[in-house]
Amino acid sequence: MILAPMAGLTHSALRQIVFGFGGVGLLSTEMLSARSLPSESPRVSPYLIRTDLEKPLSYQLLISTAGDIAQAIDALHKLKADAIDLNMGCPAPAVGRMGAGIRLMEKPEEVRLIVGEARKRTQLPLTAKIRLGMELDEQKLKDFCTMLEDEGIDILSVHARTKKESFARRPRWEWIAKVKEWLKIPVIANGGIFSVQDAKICLSVSGADGLMIGRGAVTKPWLFAEIAREVYGCEIAEPEVSLPLVYGNFIDLLNELFRPEHRLGRLKQFTPYFAQNYQFGHNLATRVQSSKSVDEARERAGIFFENAT
Ligand SMILES: Cc1cc2nc3c(=O)[nH]c(=O)nc-3n(C[C@H](O)[C@H](O)[C@H](O)COP(=O)(O)O)c2cc1C
Repeated sequence: MILAPMAGLTHSALRQIVFGFGGVGLLSTEMLSARSLPSESPRVSPYLIRTDLEKPLSYQLLISTAGDIAQAIDALHKLKADAIDLNMGCPAPAVGRMGAGIRLMEKPEEVRLIVGEARKRTQLPLTAKIRLGMELDEQKLKDFCTMLEDEGIDILSVHARTKKESFARRPRWEWIAKVKEWLKIPVIANGGIFSVQDAKICLSVSGADGLMIGRGAVTKPWLFAEIAREVYGCEIAEPEVSLPLVYGNFIDLLNELFRPEHRLGRLKQFTPYFAQNYQFGHNLATRVQSSKSVDEARERAGIFFENAT
């Protein structure tokens, strides 16, 4: 099971908490611009700060042209990446304007060059994360996936939605079964897994070789541990969860790891997901959202936890 790359969310603090509960096999950074990566400082950049606890860690590259691969991979080798993922699924307009993310699925010839160049330059596991496409087109998707495999991608993660399909729509796990049929490499199912039950259904519908979980693991950083125990039969401890302790630990880690200006924004991004564990969690999210400092947010959250059932 893999922690999905998520901008603003899958930084060192969240990764440490997820890893602490166990069950996850591979952690991820958020998407990192291949062009600016070489000039980022690993000691200061909130995108790159990591501890020895977060292992194995996959670094995701946001890239639009093969010309940027060499310097990005050199940088990732220096950072001691354990795997390299190529983002081919992000639908954000700003990313599309750069010709990156899901736009790459419209440029298979450029992608062939990117993957071929990356494959030449690294021995690390090289993975790609795609969506189903700009729209549903089975032949186009098949050609794209087999091209990725032929060029040397080791594992393919598939977020089972097209570009335009929002999170409100049910993910099309049955399409992952098609991808699985076309390829020999492991195929990982992504999208809409929030519980043990979801994991079971997704695996049975898709036949995937593994699961990648994003938002569900932000809301419940212990979700991998639950799935590992109940779906994969792993012998790991049943997660003991105290929500106030998890939240407090997250704030402590933000304070420990990041410069002051990088803390509050990340707490505000995390809180709406975590607040879903409470029936009236929107009260927690709005109180933290309007906080002017991490200390104020912590105090407000403390009051919420005292009154929450
Ligand atoms: C806030 C947020 C940021 C995301 N950032 C990235 C990213 O940096 N790279 C990426 O490939 N996908 C990104 N995604 C997509 C997720 O990796 C994942 O494909 C998607 O959320 C579906 O999985 P889920 O239902 O388990 O959350 C992001 C999603 C969210 C909600």
